[in-house]
Amino acid sequence: DMTMEESVEVYLGDSAGIPCQYVFSEQPRAFMIQWFVRNPSSSSRERIYYGDNAQQIVDDGTDFTGRITVSNIGDKEGVLLTIQDVQLTDEREFFCQVNGMAAGNGEGKTHLRVFDPPMAPVIEGVHAGISVTNELPSRIASCEARNGFPRPNITWYRGISPLTPTHGQINVVILVTRESSGFYTVQSELQYKVAKEDKDVLFSCEVSYYVPGAVRTAESKGINITVHYPTTVVELWKESPQGLVKEGDTVEIRCQGDGNPPPPFTFNRQQASDDTLVLREVTRGDSGVYQCRSLDLDTYEEVMGDVQLIVHYLDPALVVPKDSEIMFKGESLTATCNALSSLETFTVWFKNGLQVGTGHMLFLQDATYDTAGEYVCEVTVPSLPGLHTSGSVHIIVQGAPQMKDADREVEMEEGAGKWMNLSCEAHAHPLPTISWTVTGSQSWREVLTSATDHSTISLVSIKVTSDITAFCNATNEMGTEAKSFSISASKPPCHILTPWKKSEGNGVIIVVVIICVLLLAVLGSVLYFLHKKGKIPCGRSGKQEITKENPNKDGIVVEMKTDTKTEEAVLLKGGNGDKNGPNDQVTMNMKAIR
Ligand SMILES: *[C@@H]1O[C@H](CO)[C@@H](O)[C@H](O)[C@H]1NC(C)=O
Ligand SMILES: *[C@@H]1O[C@H](CO)[C@@H](O)[C@H](O)[C@H]1NC(C)=O
Ligand SMILES: *[C@@H]1O[C@H](CO)[C@@H](O)[C@H](O)[C@H]1NC(C)=O
Ligand SMILES: *[C@@H]1O[C@H](CO)[C@@H](O)[C@H](O)[C@H]1NC(C)=O
Repeated sequence: DMTMEESVEVYLGDSAGIPCQYVFSEQPRAFMIQWFVRNPSSSSRERIYYGDNAQQIVDDGTDFTGRITVSNIGDKEGVLLTIQDVQLTDEREFFCQVNGMAAGNGEGKTHLRVFDPPMAPVIEGVHAGISVTNELPSRIASCEARNGFPRPNITWYRGISPLTPTHGQINVVILVTRESSGFYTVQSELQYKVAKEDKDVLFSCEVSYYVPGAVRTAESKGINITVHYPTTVVELWKESPQGLVKEGDTVEIRCQGDGNPPPPFTFNRQQASDDTLVLREVTRGDSGVYQCRSLDLDTYEEVMGDVQLIVHYLDPALVVPKDSEIMFKGESLTATCNALSSLETFTVWFKNGLQVGTGHMLFLQDATYDTAGEYVCEVTVPSLPGLHTSGSVHIIVQGAPQMKDADREVEMEEGAGKWMNLSCEAHAHPLPTISWTVTGSQSWREVLTSATDHSTISLVSIKVTSDITAFCNATNEMGTEAKSFSISASKPPCHILTPWKKSEGNGVIIVVVIICVLLLAVLGSVLYFLHKKGKIPCGRSGKQEITKENPNKDGIVVEMKTDTKTEEAVLLKGGNGDKNGPNDQVTMNMKAIR
């Protein structure tokens, strides 16, 4: 009774073991074992091994000579044929023949299967674009799996789905080559009817092959195909600027179709080189509908897209009254500022940088000289900040002079003999002239006169000799306004109080000073006389300490020197025990009025 495996599977180059088990119903006295292989070309058998009780022989001159051994299987009755370094040609049927003479004989066979995985599959896509309008499936890729054994299979994938040949849609053309080495190389070509959706799909191939006891697979990388499809929709849009368009902008209009490759476009208004129409410095005249057409060269169908362009504008501001306007004091006026725009505008009026009104009308009521000036209207477009303009009107207020502080009669007192300045400022249009009437002084002169747009200032310098009345009259053709000053000359009581003002060179003062000095000398001699008589107890003469509190603590000594004109108070910092050296002494001379 023979027991052999149906097949034994082994990788190329490995060792293969083919067991042959047998049992005898009656133990023979002697038996022999022979191994045969079937020749692949003819179906004849060839012995490769002989063994009996006496001898074991590996036959000479066979494919297996030197590569096989036959050994006993350990515990069971049987032998194991071991083939070293298995070759592809070893894929054959092996026969084990046991002859027990009188006990009978038997034979079993095992098919030895040899495996060698192919190389990783290599995919190659078609680079040219493939049109969806092709009627038959087009070749889109080929895949090759080289040198496998046994023959590997190739499966195609679109994304993750396997492709099975379908009539008119998918063809797979397979070419199998048996190499001289015995390996198989499989080439597969995918013919496929592309659709537009295939433009973003990856195609791949997978090789599947047998290994001992299993099926393995290896995948190629995915490839893109270029799908050509006709344009069905053309879109036209404003690429820049973002938002509303104003005059002066550069506008870019782009045209795009949904076809591949992009067809040539034509714009209706201007010539554009490619898919973009550039309009520089647009004006309101550029507003309108822009169209873009494409003619598909495959289908000869024309497709068109359009876009509406609106160019917004803001014309220069027109101010009424124009340039400048004369108002009489007390009059009213309405100024308007208009700027034509395609959008809603907003107007603000400014005077001297301050906002004085909003809206396109400005009411000037009951004009005063303060009303006069430059009024600027600024027109903006809130929805399109790039648009703004402005205009202005110059308001002139005409009227009689208006004196600054005219109501207040100015009364002043000034030392006789001194010069003093009086000033008048008058507002008016036309500009007033200022004239002075001075009574009480012969010496006066106008030292300054200046005029701004609406006012004149005059300054006179008057020598005060006695009480003075002065008028300044501001006059223009509309009227006159006056302002009066009255100055009373005062005589200073004693000029000893201001002895340093000797520079004024007043002889009277010198006389008074001399009298005062004499009086002091008399007073001094009286005091000295009384002191000598012991009538007045007194401290040291000449120098007198007026402050001497804890000199060691404070270190400040105030000394007063008596002088005819001044007293110098000397502050001495730093007492005996003080750390400060003599260099740190601070001396301050104070001049005091005696
Ligand atoms: C290859 O394809 C054939 C035919 O469909 C099939 O019989 C065989 O099992 C396949 N081989 C592998 C390794 O898948
Ligand atoms: C496939 O094509 C798309 C579109 O042309 C591209 O974005 C992508 O990178 C391509 N992928 C590969 C793997 O070539
Ligand atoms: C009067 O005005 C003149 C010119 O501005 C000036 O030089 C002078 O010092 C002024 N005198 C007094 C007393 O303010
Ligand atoms: C100036 O005004 C006063 C008061 O109104 C008037 O008396 C005087 O005559 C006027 N003088 C001149 C020069 O106009």
